[in-house]
Amino acid sequence: MDKFIIEGGKKLHGHVSVSGSKNAALALMPATLLASGKYHFKNVPVLRDLTTMGRLLSLMGVDVSQEGHSLSLNTFRVNKFEAPYEQVKKMRASVYVLGPLVARYGHAKVSLPGGCAWGPRPVNLHIEGVRKLGADVNVKGGYILARAKRLKAAKINFTVSSVGATGNVMMAAVLARGTTLINNAAMEPEIVALEHFLVKMGARIDGIGTSRLEIEGVDQLHPVDENLIPDRIEAATFLIAAALTGGTVTVENCKPVHLSAVMSKLEESGAFLQTGDSSITIRAPKSIRPVNVTTEIYPGFPTDVQAQWLTLMTIARGTSKITDSIYFDRFKHVPELIRLGADIMLEKNSATVKGVGKLAGAKVMSTDLRASACLVLAGLAAHGTTEVLRVYHLDRGYESIERKLHQLGARIRRVSGKEF
Ligand code: EPZ
Repeated sequence: MDKFIIEGGKKLHGHVSVSGSKNAALALMPATLLASGKYHFKNVPVLRDLTTMGRLLSLMGVDVSQEGHSLSLNTFRVNKFEAPYEQVKKMRASVYVLGPLVARYGHAKVSLPGGCAWGPRPVNLHIEGVRKLGADVNVKGGYILARAKRLKAAKINFTVSSVGATGNVMMAAVLARGTTLINNAAMEPEIVALEHFLVKMGARIDGIGTSRLEIEGVDQLHPVDENLIPDRIEAATFLIAAALTGGTVTVENCKPVHLSAVMSKLEESGAFLQTGDSSITIRAPKSIRPVNVTTEIYPGFPTDVQAQWLTLMTIARGTSKITDSIYFDRFKHVPELIRLGADIMLEKNSATVKGVGKLAGAKVMSTDLRASACLVLAGLAAHGTTEVLRVYHLDRGYESIERKLHQLGARIRRVSGKEF
């Protein structure tokens, strides 16, 4: 129950390095179930969500060890094919084990994820996809029960472009008999990282990076080592922190091409940006222009940056509209921003934000990962002191964010739950 105490009003300056991608790691770790052996990952962030995934895999018999930013997995002794509710309820991405377990071991018992902070997040496409590949799938007692001797190729047309369902069904199809066609597949960089990882393991995938994937099943795969891509959402969070505080920051160890939608909106708001091979330098605008945003699937503006963008717009010179087309009610951060003096009107899946001159520090409550990130950003820009409670949400997806922000000159400190 740690909290952050932030003294706002300080411009951020300097260099900050981005960690490896949480969402890429959460897709690649379950993929190791597809072939027995040793795997070594580099550039792995130290995050609570990865510990949770490691715990889930170790319950199945996987040897998991992380030392700093290196992660080793040994899947030789997998002997249990179940993802229990106690684990899955902590993290929805746990459902990613469904495809690999059915494909490799012929059966899986995976708990349904249950509720999420911001409304329904069904897994019907995951279930339908595995069923289309010939698995016998039932949902009973809150569990997905799937069985198959050997999966068979199929044509799958996703009604919605889903990151998770694309990853899960692809991991099932790589060991199926025949060639599977997936239409409307997700194209997020984390899914492309999974596609490259599977091909390195011996899979045959055509259409990498596109929404049309052709997956020719093979009889077996082999373990490999991998270097994780950088976390584009963490990079976007630091870029917006710089714009919000009026600073100049260089974000290093990132992939600018993954951030084109965010960068073009930042330029529209008046910021000056310069990119290198693996860095982006941002100089904040003197005054922030209001810019409307609608979140979309990749390469559109990511929903995981919606809250941070909305926060920037709370101090823009004018009114903007932020619409989330991926998660209709991902606005749990709005009442907290209003506590900091923001002027925001919510209607259906849109927020109309009237810029105010300045936010003012207050106590605010985190509700989920990206909502808590935006409250930290708001605290950095606000006059006076802001206390962000329940920062355990942040530790799920940001590696020591307070140390990195402190490095940029922010006045932020963590107070452990025992102290208050
Ligand atoms: C991934 O979640 C990310 N999580 C999320 O990031 C991110 O917000 C999301 O993609 C969208 O970009 C990980 O990669 C671990 P989806 P996922 O399936 O896979 C609907 C963060 O902050 N849908 O692409 O769960 C769904 O309701 C997290 O790091 C179905 O209807 O997202 C949503 O409206 C939060 N049926 C849309 O598709 C399904 O079976 C996109 O969801 C699956 C999804």
